[in-house]
Amino acid sequence: MPDTITITDDRTGKTVTVPIEGGVFPSSALRQLDPTLFMYDPAYMSTAACKSQITYLDGENGILRYRGYPIEQLAEQSTYLEVAYLLLHGELPTEEQLTNWRHDVTHHTFIHENMRKRFVDGFHYDAHPMGMFVSSIAALGTFYDGAKDIENEESRRKQILRLIAKTPTLAAMAYRFSAGLPFNYPNNALSYPANFLNMMWKVGADYEVDPALERAMDVLFILHADHEQNCGTTAMRVVGSSHVDPYSSAAAAASALYGPLHGGANEAVVRMLTEIGSIEHVPAFIDSVKAGEGRLMGFGHRVYKNYDPRATIIKKAAYDVFEITGKNPLLDIALALEDVALKDPYFIDRKLYPNVDFYSGLIYQALGFPVDMFTVLFAIPRTVGWLAHWQELLSDPDQKISRPRQWYAGPDVRNYVAMADR
Ligand code: CMC
Repeated sequence: MPDTITITDDRTGKTVTVPIEGGVFPSSALRQLDPTLFMYDPAYMSTAACKSQITYLDGENGILRYRGYPIEQLAEQSTYLEVAYLLLHGELPTEEQLTNWRHDVTHHTFIHENMRKRFVDGFHYDAHPMGMFVSSIAALGTFYDGAKDIENEESRRKQILRLIAKTPTLAAMAYRFSAGLPFNYPNNALSYPANFLNMMWKVGADYEVDPALERAMDVLFILHADHEQNCGTTAMRVVGSSHVDPYSSAAAAASALYGPLHGGANEAVVRMLTEIGSIEHVPAFIDSVKAGEGRLMGFGHRVYKNYDPRATIIKKAAYDVFEITGKNPLLDIALALEDVALKDPYFIDRKLYPNVDFYSGLIYQALGFPVDMFTVLFAIPRTVGWLAHWQELLSDPDQKISRPRQWYAGPDVRNYVAMADR
């Protein structure tokens, strides 16, 4: 069977044959038939917008791999900083490379004092931490001369390092501001996740990070590090294709992540579970979802149609965390919801399964994070995914500034009507 596709334009009888590689054929085939012809593909449901070597995702079989390594192995055996190196460089680091990388990230965690004293202090007292996070990422870029120097590889490397190192600091700062607590400076003696937990929770001198919770945080970071061309990463690529600085692109990506259909779903899940209130209300809630009165948040995925491998790992991690923190009372409702939904033809027929956000919110809550910090917790590790894609985009000769076309469906030409005649 040839690995080609032949397309015929029935209007002209013209035919074009192009190769299919990795399940993809070049849409330029259509332009060969007729240069004014475009595909109508809202939400890019059938479009591969780039060639990427970073993350492999097989939605039918529930497979997720970073640079070829199964997510299960990375979650079990690796650390977030090692995974970050892998995503950015394509290979796992040697011991020396990892030591240097860890040192470099650790020594870029501080932010300019003006960010905290002037920029963050300007927010309203009840500002949403994710809104603060989005804007502080964009603002961060204004502190670095080289931020716009994206053609320069060394400058790119520096900005990547800064963004990865400083996002936990920005995130903790947003929380401490909203809680009215003094800011904790980064502690360079701690690991990446422990430093973040320390900046979040230390009050006075007596906070010590529990190693099991530090590990749970790191695993959550690993699971969220990349997920190929999702809405946020696509925003990163589209905005980055204009050659703006990476801080502005990352702010755009974080804005996309903020939405409840994307990273905001973890927050929505906990609000939903709280609203359901008890197991007895689960059947009625499921009925309301089936009647189209709302969605079962944390269920369904554009790509995963069998199960989300991250959800499986997170569910197990949740139990590990609950052993230390005590069970989240919402867990029973979540389990009951999952149980009912997985047996219900509505969800089975539509291939709706728990996604990464279904259980992550419960862990975050057990770890003490307020609900409105959940999406920020997703954004911290996803920053490396955005940057890996940004880097790949800039070195891809196939790429240009993103500029899709439209199917114009508005009025035909007409004459301006004077106000008195309208
Ligand atoms: N609850 C109830 N029905 C659903 C749900 C849900 N969570 N998700 C999809 N459906 C139904 C939908 O109503 C439609 O039914 P019908 O064919 O009768 O109209 C069908 O399933 C297909 O849905 P869709 O909206 O066309 O699917 P999509 O691929 O565009 O949406 C999704 C994917 C993740 C946005 C969607 O499943 C959803 O809204 N889920 C809830 C929000 C959520 O958990 N988001 C987190 C996604 S994973 C992490 C991340 O991306 O950040």
